[in-house]
Amino acid sequence: MFLFFYPHEVYRSCMSALVIRSFGSPLSVLEYQRTEEMSDLADGELCLKILASPINPADLNWIEGTYGKKPELPATPGTEAVAEVVASRDAAFPVGMRVIFLDYAHGWQSQRVLRAHGLLPVPADLPWAELAMLKVNPATAWRMLHDFAALQPGDVVVQNAANSAVGRCVIQLAHALGLRTFNFVRDPEPAEELRALGADAIFRDDAEGQQQALEALRAEGRWAQLALNAVGGESALRQCDLLADGAMQVTYGAMSRRPLTIPNKHLIFRGLRFSGFWLSQWLAHAEAAEVEKMYGTLIDFMRRGQLRTMIDGMYSFEDFPAAIARLTAADRRGKILFAPDPCLLR
Ligand SMILES: NC(=O)c1ccc[n+]([C@@H]2O[C@H](COP(=O)([O-])OP(=O)(O)OC[C@H]3O[C@@H](n4cnc5c(N)ncnc54)[C@H](OP(=O)(O)O)[C@@H]3O)[C@@H](O)[C@H]2O)c1
Repeated sequence: MFLFFYPHEVYRSCMSALVIRSFGSPLSVLEYQRTEEMSDLADGELCLKILASPINPADLNWIEGTYGKKPELPATPGTEAVAEVVASRDAAFPVGMRVIFLDYAHGWQSQRVLRAHGLLPVPADLPWAELAMLKVNPATAWRMLHDFAALQPGDVVVQNAANSAVGRCVIQLAHALGLRTFNFVRDPEPAEELRALGADAIFRDDAEGQQQALEALRAEGRWAQLALNAVGGESALRQCDLLADGAMQVTYGAMSRRPLTIPNKHLIFRGLRFSGFWLSQWLAHAEAAEVEKMYGTLIDFMRRGQLRTMIDGMYSFEDFPAAIARLTAADRRGKILFAPDPCLLR
């Protein structure tokens, strides 16, 4: 009854969440938790229902305690999420508005009560599951294509892990910007899918694939202007031979867990430049207007169908062992997400 009269200020909820109390492998430290509570919202507070939150490689590192920032424990993982305002005492965030979290989302829980800090409203008419993955990978691809080289239409960007979610964003955004991508993959099976997204060339990420790419570039008489590296080790090293002298390699991931070992010649005689990129750091230092402008642009690409993220499946929190197991399935095609409201599961 109480709820009926004050739907925007008092909420009663059945809350579910995944929590870690120590660092370790996800299956050994993640705990499923379910609680029921009834609370008042303080002035300025919102109650957000999480609609979806993906499992990104960074989440696994965060749980293992090997990520760039270690959380205080106990804590709920989930770098990014999309949520809907279900109760509000902040007029700028009315009930029904959808938002993404620019700060760490702690998205692997069914709801959060907080003050509206670091929330970005997103359109309610775009697919919510794809909006759940807007913050990290599309923005990473966008920044890397803009912040490290003055790229001109027709320039070649080389990347490894091209079949990753970031890799697919790079392909789509580069294509929309008139750039060309030379894409390196461990397994060429999804090549047709990548071509359909706008990939210009696809090579196996080995010495033979590198040779083929070298020949293609040599035939054109031009070298790549930017290399994006999410793998490390030999894969990163192979990219260097494809770059024009003075060009930049940006390392943003280390999927092989192998370090970069750069031969001196690339630094001394060729002037190649090497940089890292971490979106969290960019978001922490960027002006609010610049952040809004970038996400507005990415939303426009989504709306025009030029930026899609594939989804392999959605899981409830309770089903987390299946979700984690699916991450390493050979036939996985796209992201695994948690979608806490069972009626949203497809
Ligand atoms: N620095 C940043 O701000 C930032 C932001 C976003 C993401 N990232 C990083 O970007 C990378 C990709 O993230 P994502 O969300 O796109 O991941 P994802 O969709 O899960 O894809 C993972 C990719 O890594 C490849 N891979 C997995 N293990 C590998 C290994 N041992 N050697 C070589 N390749 C391997 C996979 O190859 P297959 O396709 O062959 O399976 C797949 O292409 C991660 O390292 C992530 O942490 C960094």
